[in-house]
Amino acid sequence: ILKNRNVLSKMQENLNKKILSLLKNIGAAAEEMHYKAYVVGGFVRDLLMEKDNYDIDIVIEGDGAKFAVNYAKKHNAKVFVHKKFKTAVVSFDDGFKIDFATARTEYYVTPAAAPEVVESSVKSDLFRRDFTINAMAVRLDGAQFGLLLDFFMGQKDILDKKIRVLHSLSFVDDPSRAYRAIRFAVRFGFEIGSHTDRLIKHAESLDLFSRIIGQRQFLELKYILAEDGYLFALQLMNKYNMLRFYSTKIKYDDELINKFKRSEHLLNWYKIQFEEDIEVWRMRFNILFFPEKGENFISLIDKFELSSKEASILKDDHKYMEYAVSLFKRYKDHKPSFIYGVCSNLSVESALALAAVMGESKQDIIKDYLTEYKNVKIDLSGQDLIEAGIPKGPEIKKALDVLLKAKLDGIVNTKEDELLFIKNEFGV
Ligand code: CTP
Repeated sequence: ILKNRNVLSKMQENLNKKILSLLKNIGAAAEEMHYKAYVVGGFVRDLLMEKDNYDIDIVIEGDGAKFAVNYAKKHNAKVFVHKKFKTAVVSFDDGFKIDFATARTEYYVTPAAAPEVVESSVKSDLFRRDFTINAMAVRLDGAQFGLLLDFFMGQKDILDKKIRVLHSLSFVDDPSRAYRAIRFAVRFGFEIGSHTDRLIKHAESLDLFSRIIGQRQFLELKYILAEDGYLFALQLMNKYNMLRFYSTKIKYDDELINKFKRSEHLLNWYKIQFEEDIEVWRMRFNILFFPEKGENFISLIDKFELSSKEASILKDDHKYMEYAVSLFKRYKDHKPSFIYGVCSNLSVESALALAAVMGESKQDIIKDYLTEYKNVKIDLSGQDLIEAGIPKGPEIKKALDVLLKAKLDGIVNTKEDELLFIKNEFGV
């Protein structure tokens, strides 16, 4: 394996035309400014593994932010500069984005402080990254276009199927990398290298993971739960005793595994029925955290410091799942109108999670709700009711509710039925 080799033909074979010409453009623009430009990180990893990746991270030897501003002007794109970090994001009209950074060496003054940034060469930029497979670059400027830089044996580790850190302090610099190690391991079917494995265990014993800020903790878990191999990832998190940082109520045992397996069947069923995608990670998140009750769940979500919108989606999912479970336990008569009342506030993500946690016996009920009851509509409108003599105001809502119940339970079917029913019930 060569440390430096030309991967131009690999790029021509595997990248789509748009990406390839974009990279060439960037290279040409860098040359004009007498800068060196590289595409780095996950993009290069996926190029070598022949997997699609549209997240382009560019590192400039020179002033990356200044380069991005020029580049954006030339291509009629918008640019957002982060002065302190000398980075920039360029976004095109079609929504496509490119990240630009200045090759840098970071000095972590203290573990919690923002790193100091100084201009530096691409080698030290790569050296501060997480894993060997993510620490390669491809040169873009001038005649060197397509030259792969692999200082840390990333190519070898792709061949060996290993996740390896670049140095022993990697998890001290950034403990969230341990979650990334697990994510990449399950995504690619790689093994965590033995030294890296020891470093994760060491980081756990030093309690480094409790230093990860809430938002980052949440994101890492969300990404893990979005992977097809999430169940194996949870098993690894369990092995490293890393689940406890989320909740001590999470028990990675057969019961949990069975819930997740049921959820996968339910998910397939849902996709076939409705041909629509759902937020799979959220369904899994709902299952994972269901053992946390009420207030505890709320404070757990608050620790993640999410946007108020995202936080309330997760809190609502959990609240309505708890509500449904308690009502299903309390009442044995499961008329359609009852099921509708219990389930009507559930999102699809929480309804499927609910079906998975309640087990086989209740699954069909939730399926019936999603395929049938959820879509039942009455034919009469509020205006029809007013014309039929129901007084304006809260009475209308009450009448609509009663009518929907009757329709769900098959007591009324047609619009005429509905009108008769209302006249009887409300004496109008
Ligand atoms: N990186 C790092 N340490 C982190 C996060 C990121 O060193 N804690 C580096 C890695 O080199 C990574 C690059 O920054 O390749 C970009 O990060 P990100 O976009 O999160 O990762 P990708 O490798 O692109 O992963 P994905 O395919 O999931 O987007």
